[in-house]
Amino acid sequence: MNFPFKKALVTGGAGFIGSHIVEELVKSGIDTISVDNYFAGKHENLAHLKNYPNFKEVRGDVTNFEELEKHFSGVEVVFHQAASKKTICLNDPRRDLEINGAGTFNMLELALKHKVKKFVHASTGSVYGEAQYFPQDENHPLIPTSYYGISKLAGEKYVKVFEHLYDLDTTVLRYFHVYGARQESSEVGGVVSIFTRLLLMGKPITIFGDGTQQRSFTYVKDVVKANLLVAITPGTKGQVYNCASGIKVTIKELADLIAEILNVRDTKIKYDDWTPGDIKMFDIDNKKIRAALDLEFLTNFKEGLGKTIAWAKTYFQGKETANV
Ligand SMILES: NC(=O)c1ccc[n+]([C@@H]2O[C@H](COP(=O)([O-])OP(=O)(O)OC[C@H]3O[C@@H](n4cnc5c(N)ncnc54)[C@H](O)[C@@H]3O)[C@@H](O)[C@H]2O)c1
Repeated sequence: MNFPFKKALVTGGAGFIGSHIVEELVKSGIDTISVDNYFAGKHENLAHLKNYPNFKEVRGDVTNFEELEKHFSGVEVVFHQAASKKTICLNDPRRDLEINGAGTFNMLELALKHKVKKFVHASTGSVYGEAQYFPQDENHPLIPTSYYGISKLAGEKYVKVFEHLYDLDTTVLRYFHVYGARQESSEVGGVVSIFTRLLLMGKPITIFGDGTQQRSFTYVKDVVKANLLVAITPGTKGQVYNCASGIKVTIKELADLIAEILNVRDTKIKYDDWTPGDIKMFDIDNKKIRAALDLEFLTNFKEGLGKTIAWAKTYFQGKETANV
């Protein structure tokens, strides 16, 4: 890819998706700053990049305007990934709003003040709430039912206002069930990494509900590609895209596939009550992003899972007690 910019800043750069965006930018020769408060991010996610002269890792909080401003000089593109995640917002919804709402507002103000050329905003399918029709396209009503969905929608709306009032070049990407290396695998992590960790350690897995709930798993490298394409494609200004592979896989199918790849023959599955508010069905329309970016979500699910599991095997070697 040819980049018409030289310097980028990634918030949440030490997190799961952010660290993959940072990696791609750094390896493409872009001066890249990762900003993270390390609430969920890890230094180890970026350790392999520390010898690149065009990479800088800083500790910073998106809720602190003055602190963040120190890092904005010369930044041309912002990839705003930092967020308070779904799994913690119930414990502290006020902090959730501060990070996802006010934190996004700060980043937009800084982008405007420092004449950033492009602001790429990570949002979520949770902004839709319960599906009213399938497949869900970008025009689906926005009726989030969780603190997380509401605060992320607030972030999206601030993005729109800055676009509208100041003509800031922004694009919103709504992610769904992203999976891949470096995803958190404790109970607050993603289902792919949780199942992988437990099966690797010979432990039973728990399925909440009957396992028929469907997810649209999307490989992290495809999400990175979408972010980079959005940053260099002029027609994406002011647009919102579903950034999802569009595949439909049930949770039981996922468990079976991971067991098959790991060669586990006697998977122990415990079935527990449905998680309150769990959305059972995802069927996502990704036509808009595919057409705009000429992007196909090429990573076949089994191939992506294979790569993720290969990474997890190495990661957990010698860490038998990690995150358990
Ligand atoms: N993983 C998914 O399936 C998924 C789905 C939908 C949307 N998203 C969105 O994608 C983005 C990245 O998510 P992820 O899965 O990589 O999660 P993650 O938790 O791994 O990454 C988020 C990062 O933000 C950092 N962070 C949190 N609060 C911060 C603050 N106040 N200041 C600075 N940094 C802060 C965390 O330490 C973490 O490193 C988020 O905006 C999230 O809402 C992810």
